Amino acid sequence: MDRTMKRLLKLSLLLLCNTCILAQQKAVIRIDSGSVKNTVAPTLHGVFFEEISHGGDGGLYAEMVRNRGFEDNRLPPGTHLENGNIFPRRTPHYNLAGKPTDWTMPWTLTTEWPGWRLAGDTAAIRVRLTKAHPLNSASPQSMEISVSGSQAANPPQLVNEGYWGMGVSKGKNYHLSFYARDAGNYRGTLELALLDRSGNALATSQVTLKPGRQWQQYKLRLEAFSGEDSAQLAFRFRGKGKLWLDFVSLFPEETYKNRANGLRADLASYIAGLQPSFLRWPGGCFVEGINVESAPNWKRTIGPVEQRPGTFSVWDYWSTDGFGYHEYLQFCEDIGADALYVFNAGVSCEFRSGTFVPDDSLQPVIDNVLDAIEYAVGPVTTTYGKMRAANGHPKPFPLRYVEVGNEQHGPWYAKRYNRFHEAIRKQYPDIKIISSMGIGDINRWTLDSIRTTDIADEHAYKAANWSFINYNHFDGYKRGDYDVYVGEYATNAGVGQGNMLAALNDAVYIMGMENNGDLVKMSSYAPLLENVNSRHWPVNLIRFNSAKSFARISYYAIKLFQENRADENFVVQQSIIPLDGAYPNFSGGIGLATWDTQTEYKDLEIIANGKQVYRSDFLARPDEWKVVSGQWQVNGDAWQQSGNGAHLLSLLKDLSLEEYTLRLKGRKLSGYNAFIIPFAVTDERNHLRAHIGSYVNKNSVFEQVINGSVSNIGKYVPLRQPIETGKWYNIRLEVGRNQVMVFLEDSLLMSHRHTEKLVSIAGRDRETGDLILKVVNGDDHPYDVEIQVAGGFRKHSQVRVYEIRAGRNEENSFAHPEKILPSLTELTTTEPSLKRRFPANSITVLRIR
Ligand code: AHR
Repeated sequence: MDRTMKRLLKLSLLLLCNTCILAQQKAVIRIDSGSVKNTVAPTLHGVFFEEISHGGDGGLYAEMVRNRGFEDNRLPPGTHLENGNIFPRRTPHYNLAGKPTDWTMPWTLTTEWPGWRLAGDTAAIRVRLTKAHPLNSASPQSMEISVSGSQAANPPQLVNEGYWGMGVSKGKNYHLSFYARDAGNYRGTLELALLDRSGNALATSQVTLKPGRQWQQYKLRLEAFSGEDSAQLAFRFRGKGKLWLDFVSLFPEETYKNRANGLRADLASYIAGLQPSFLRWPGGCFVEGINVESAPNWKRTIGPVEQRPGTFSVWDYWSTDGFGYHEYLQFCEDIGADALYVFNAGVSCEFRSGTFVPDDSLQPVIDNVLDAIEYAVGPVTTTYGKMRAANGHPKPFPLRYVEVGNEQHGPWYAKRYNRFHEAIRKQYPDIKIISSMGIGDINRWTLDSIRTTDIADEHAYKAANWSFINYNHFDGYKRGDYDVYVGEYATNAGVGQGNMLAALNDAVYIMGMENNGDLVKMSSYAPLLENVNSRHWPVNLIRFNSAKSFARISYYAIKLFQENRADENFVVQQSIIPLDGAYPNFSGGIGLATWDTQTEYKDLEIIANGKQVYRSDFLARPDEWKVVSGQWQVNGDAWQQSGNGAHLLSLLKDLSLEEYTLRLKGRKLSGYNAFIIPFAVTDERNHLRAHIGSYVNKNSVFEQVINGSVSNIGKYVPLRQPIETGKWYNIRLEVGRNQVMVFLEDSLLMSHRHTEKLVSIAGRDRETGDLILKVVNGDDHPYDVEIQVAGGFRKHSQVRVYEIRAGRNEENSFAHPEKILPSLTELTTTEPSLKRRFPANSITVLRIR
C-alpha cells in the first residue's frame, strides 16, 4: 500500500470512529424555575425598514412604474458632475477636524430616462425631456413626444420597464394614472397596454386626450386577462402629432389593506407576520444622505405624490418618497407596531461627504423634527396635527420613539444629541429618544459624553460563529440609566446569501439579548428587504423580485422567537457531559498561506501519537502541495509565496489529522503581515488558521474561513515585536482535541479552545404560564439532552415542539420558498424529566404547559 493510500485509509477510519462518538454526545439542561434571572421586554423584536436594495421603491411600495416623474436623471442636490463622478461641495467633514474629504461617487446613469425605452415603429417617434411647462416644481421635467405616423400593426410605443419588470397576475386589476397635455397637437387615440416579455398584450385600454394647454390627469383601470412576472407598460401611439407626458403611475388594485398609494401585499404581510413591536424608518445610512443637501426631510414626503420631489439615496438611486412619512405611520398603525422615526441630525454620512449643518444653524433642523412629531401625535388644532387630519388621519399615530441620526458618534455628536434631546423632551415627555452609537458595540466615548439618553442604538453585523463564541457579549455591559436597542443585527459573513448557518447564529444572538433582557429591550434585523436585482448589502431578510418573494430561514427563527418570547427568564445550567476521549474538534488537513505578504516556509514536520507522519521536502516532493492561489514555488529548500494579494493559499494534499504537533520555519520577505498557518482544513474554502503578524504585523489572531469568507474567531494578541523581515522563525502548532496552541520561537503566542455550539435559554410566558425552552444546536452532531426542571415536570403536561432543522448551507429560494420552515410536533410528559435529541444544526422551541 503506498503512502497516499495509507493516509486515505487512516482518514476513513477516523471519520468512521468520529461518527460513533458523535451519536453519543450528551448534555443536561437544568431549569431553575424558582429563580427569575431577568425580564424580557415585550418590545424586544421590531423591524427596521431602509430604502436600500430597492426595499421601498421597486419593493414594499407597490408603485410599478420606474421613474414615473421623468426626474431620475437629476444630479443629487449640492453636487456637480465631472468625468463621470459626482462631487459634493467641499465643505468640512463632521469628524475630520474641520477638513473636507475628497469623497466622490461614480455617476452610473447610462440613459437620460431610466426605466423608459422606445419600441414598435421607433422611426416614427421622437422623445426628449423638457422643462417647458412643468407639471409642478417637484416634477419639473416631462417627456415631449412627437409622433410622425402610426401603422396599425406596429405603432410607435413608449415603454416603461418597471423595476426589473412588473408582476402582473391574470384576472387582477391595475390602476393607471398619468398626466398629459397635448396643446391641441396630438390627433388620434392613445392606447395603454400591459405587455408580456414578447410584447403581447396582457391588458389594454384606450384614451382620447382632451385638447388644451393645461396638464390633465387621466385614470384608467387595466384588467389583466393573462399574467406575467416581468411585464411592462406601453403607451401605444395610434395617432399623430406632439404631446407631453408626466407622472405615470401604475398600482395593483390589491395592496396591503387595500390602501391607495399602498404597499405590496406579499411583502407587507411578511413584515406584519413578524408582529413587530415597532418599526424603524427610513434608515440606516439613507437618513444621513451623501451630503447635507441630500438628507431626507419628512416634509417633502407627505401630501400628493406628484408633489414629492424624492430623495437621493446613499445607495445610489432616487427614492420617490411614495412610501413617505404618512404612509409609514399608517403602516405602523395597520400592523399594530409603534413608530420609531429616525431623523437626520444635520450631519451627512461620514463615509461619504460628511458635510453638516453647523451648530449655530441647527435650530431649524430641531424645529423640523418637532414639526414631524407634531404631525404624528399633535392635536388637530396644531399646524401639523391639522395637516395630518387633512391627509385623512385625524387620530394621532402611534409614534413612540425618535432617533437622533444614524450611526453618528463621538463627543461632537453627543453635544448635538443633547440639544435635540432637550427640545424634544420639553415638548414631548413621553416620546423615547434614542441616541446612535456609530457602527458596532455601544460606544462608551459617545455614551459618556451624552447628558442623558433613553436608549442607545448599537449595530451588530457579525461573521458566522461569532454569536456562539460571544454568547455572553452583553453580560459584561455596564448597566446604567439607559436601555440598549440593537437597531441593526445580522450574521452576514461566511453564510452565503443567508443560509441555515446564518439562522443558527442569528437565533443564538437573539438568545444572548434575551439573556440580558434587563438591558437589551429592542432589536431589529437589518436589512429587511432586498430586490434581488439590486443588492446593496450581502445578506437581507426577505428577498423578492417584481412578482415573487420569500423569507430566509432567519426570518422564521425571529418569528418563532417572537411568538415564543418568555416574559421572564429563569436561571439555567447547561452541562455537556464529557465523552470518553473528547471529540476531535480540529481534525482535517493543514496548509500554508499569506495575506498581502511574501513569505517562505520550510522544514515542516508533523508528529502524531509520538511518530513523525509527515516531513516536507519541497525540493524533491513539491507535488505534495496543492497551489490554490498565489505564486508558490520552490526556492532553495523553502516553499515561497511571492505574489501580491489577500488569502494566497497552498494546501498539503491527502493528509487529514486529529491531534498532532506541526513544526515549521517561516521567513517574511516583504509585505504587510507575516505568517498564516491553516489547520482543520476541510477544503480551500473552509478551515481555521493561525495568523501570526496580522493587522499590519502588530498582532496575532485565530481566523476562520467559512465558505471562502475570512473572519477572526478570537481576540487580537499583540505581538511583543513585529516579525522581522528576513529572519527565520520557529513556529509550532499543538493541535489537541479541544484546544490549539501556537508557539513562536518556543514561547506560547496564543491559544484557542473549541466552543461547543449547544445553547439554551428558558423562561415563562406570564399570560399562559407556559415554560418556554429555546435550544440551538449549531454543531454538526446531535445532542441527547435530559431537560430537568425544579420539582420535576408534571405528568401529562402538553409539550409543543417547534423545530427548524437543515444543512448549514441550505437556504430558501424562489424555487423553494418554504423549503425550510419550523415544524410542529406535540407530545406529553411522562417522566419528571424530559429527554430529547436535538439534531445537528437545529433551532428548537419547546413550549411546555
Ligand atoms: O443596513 C445597512 C447599513 O448598515 C445601514 O444603512 C447602516 O446604518 C449600517 O451601517
